[in-house]
Amino acid sequence: MAKCSICGGPAVAYIRYQRRYLCDRHFVEYVESKIRRAISRYKMIRQGYRVLVPVSGGKDSATVLTALSKLSREFGFEVVALHIDLGIGDYSVKSKEASIKAANKLGVPLIVVSVKEITGYTIPELARKARRPVCSVCGLVKRYIINLVAVELGADAVALGHNADDLAVYSMKSFITQDLSNISKLGPKTESIKGLAVGRIRPLYEVYEKESYLYALLTETPFLHEECPNVDFSSMENRLKVHINSLEEEKPGVKITMLRNMAKRIRDYPKPQLPISRCRHCGLLSSGDECSFCRLTKRITGQPLGPRAREVVRSLVASLQLAPRQDSAYKS
Ligand code: AMP
Ligand code: FES
Ligand code: ZN
Ligand code: ZN
Repeated sequence: MAKCSICGGPAVAYIRYQRRYLCDRHFVEYVESKIRRAISRYKMIRQGYRVLVPVSGGKDSATVLTALSKLSREFGFEVVALHIDLGIGDYSVKSKEASIKAANKLGVPLIVVSVKEITGYTIPELARKARRPVCSVCGLVKRYIINLVAVELGADAVALGHNADDLAVYSMKSFITQDLSNISKLGPKTESIKGLAVGRIRPLYEVYEKESYLYALLTETPFLHEECPNVDFSSMENRLKVHINSLEEEKPGVKITMLRNMAKRIRDYPKPQLPISRCRHCGLLSSGDECSFCRLTKRITGQPLGPRAREVVRSLVASLQLAPRQDSAYKS
């Protein structure tokens, strides 16, 4: 049996691009040190920050939640978790259960927002009514609710679960379609816009998908092993993933090199040209006078539901009884 290159104990992983074996304890430390380095290198979190961690129930956000809740003591920041119940049948029931178990195990406060409670419809129902693909409606609603909760919490950053494999695929796709302004949004960190949007950070920027999976297993963080039933395995992303993985097989470390170089040049990519404004209904970020969530819900229900979502979220945030954040720059 292979031995850990550090302590000689039984190895659980081989880190190909570093050519070393690691035991369970040293593997967990290795992933945490990568996350710690990414936080410092890309200036993701400062002391005193309140960080919102949206958890889907899957392995990547479980890893972010565990690692950040451990590192929060060392760096001196606060962590709050959010789960959005999308109403996608059994998958959402199990995702919610896993998220609640993970937050309870770590002692992290958790907010659960139900899409059905806010809009009267589940994500598949909203998509049917809007005659749009489920994943696109799901993405729009998730982005809106995550930002809304972050603004209401007075959070300083939102920590997403995208890993190095995801980000390599998304950036290659943006390159192939020449959607270069999208690349500028895929870096390790995006900035906040006061009162309108809270910046996003990606602590797993240099952590591979397999590493994130093994970390969640070894730290015994509850997570759901199955994927959303709407995943399309023939999509451009999933096809690209296969090709980039075979390149990584031949050239271990190529994904990380690409992402590090991309992070250095992220300012050279064009920024999205859309003007920044405030939605006239809900007051959050929009590119016109209505945000996409208010526009979508108005089309379906006759009413823009952003203001109702804000009310629901405000009372969920109040029920957590967190210390007030007078100094937050992002609360409107
Ligand atoms: P995705 O858009 O599915 O790639 O997810 C990107 C990130 O959004 C994940 O890493 C999570 O941080 C967050 N996320 C996805 N689904 C949920 C959910 N149901 N509730 C809360 N956060 C989520
Ligand atoms: Fe949104 Fe699958 S998680 S459609
Ligand atoms: Zn070891
Ligand atoms: Zn709005």
